[in-house]
Amino acid sequence: MDNKANNILTSGNIGNLVLKNRIIKAGCFEGMSQNGGVTPELIEHHRKMAAGGTAMTTVAYCSVSKDGRAYGHEMWMRKELIPELKSLTSKIQAEAAYASIQLGHCGYFASKQVIGKRSLGASSKFNLFRMSIAKKMKATDIQEKITDFINATSMAIEAGFDAVEIHAGHGYLISQFLSPYTNNRKDEYGGSLENRLRFPLEIIKGIRKKVGTDFPILIKMNLYDGIKGGLEINEAIEIAKAFETEGASALIPSSGFTSKTPFLMLRGRLPIFEMVANQSSWLMKLSLALFGKLIVQEYTYTRLFHLKEAKKIKTVVNIPVIYIGGIKTSEDVEEALQSGFDFVQIGRALIHDNNFVNHIAQNSSNLNICDTCNRCVAAMDGGGVYCVSKVTGNYVE
Ligand SMILES: Cc1cc2nc3c(=O)[nH]c(=O)nc-3n(C[C@H](O)[C@H](O)[C@H](O)COP(=O)(O)O)c2cc1C
Repeated sequence: MDNKANNILTSGNIGNLVLKNRIIKAGCFEGMSQNGGVTPELIEHHRKMAAGGTAMTTVAYCSVSKDGRAYGHEMWMRKELIPELKSLTSKIQAEAAYASIQLGHCGYFASKQVIGKRSLGASSKFNLFRMSIAKKMKATDIQEKITDFINATSMAIEAGFDAVEIHAGHGYLISQFLSPYTNNRKDEYGGSLENRLRFPLEIIKGIRKKVGTDFPILIKMNLYDGIKGGLEINEAIEIAKAFETEGASALIPSSGFTSKTPFLMLRGRLPIFEMVANQSSWLMKLSLALFGKLIVQEYTYTRLFHLKEAKKIKTVVNIPVIYIGGIKTSEDVEEALQSGFDFVQIGRALIHDNNFVNHIAQNSSNLNICDTCNRCVAAMDGGGVYCVSKVTGNYVE
């Protein structure tokens, strides 16, 4: 085994966990939770990620409450789900990997058709995709959502998860409080960064108090939103420090705002035609077909596209920082680790090659790499995420 593999394949700690190597499967919505529950497909998807050698796999977006969903095929945390989740975590752990779950709430871009009521937001805000205006959260709503995050974490632990990943980025509810673009509140939850941080920090503090000092609380956050008037790196640095102080175990700096700049977190081709084809809601089909190219921008893919800004987070905190964004090869992983990051999270390259880590261990990686066609993103709404290029061949214009 050469030095490169040694570095990637050495163990590292997050909270009370010792991960066997430095590679974690990123939370990538699977689209395999029909009716909000666990399916055999979801279990098999994560079992394969675990068997492929990743140290931990992240079950993607699970809402902390029923009203935090944008799609009917998203899970939400509830008592009845625990036995199903246990069968998922046990299958992952049987392959010698840890199981993490991403917990969030999508706030103002929740679907009225799915949740049966108006969406909640930091402020009253229009959402073009949904053609809806969110209800500004009252003090009682804020307290309820904080409790939902805490309870969802407790249930995740009961279901056997080794870690939770709190979604505080990508324009989801916590991010909507942090971003000046969506938070126009005049009370103690809006205005200054200190005020915009209040709701996120109350959540982290509440979870930490409930789970004790060592349980791994990972936080995915934004480096920048990529929108005029949105969050920028200077504030992200302060947010990272505050998350550490309040009890985060590790940070995952990313970018983008799902309702405005969804492809900023991904880069690469915009699979608009495939996305239209896979939408089940006629309203979403229509909005995408009419406004898709106008409101969803394409961003050129470059290697390790978050590296420069993410390093600024790494230098101001002492907890592990997990690099995410644009990793395709073992050389990319190595560069991220050499740049000081403690771990990496990988999305598309692991969807493309579940055995990415095993291939590194066998020195047989990089034979055929992800082409960032992003058709996996469209696939998640068409029955379940998979690498389309691997099945039909690489994307050709
Ligand atoms: C199909 C797909 C679904 C995704 N779903 C989520 C999600 O549910 N939550 C999240 O935080 N990020 C999601 N992402 C973003 C990834 O976690 C990651 O930030 C992004 O893909 C960049 O990493 P990569 O270059 O390794 O793919 C998704 C990405 C893909 C490709």
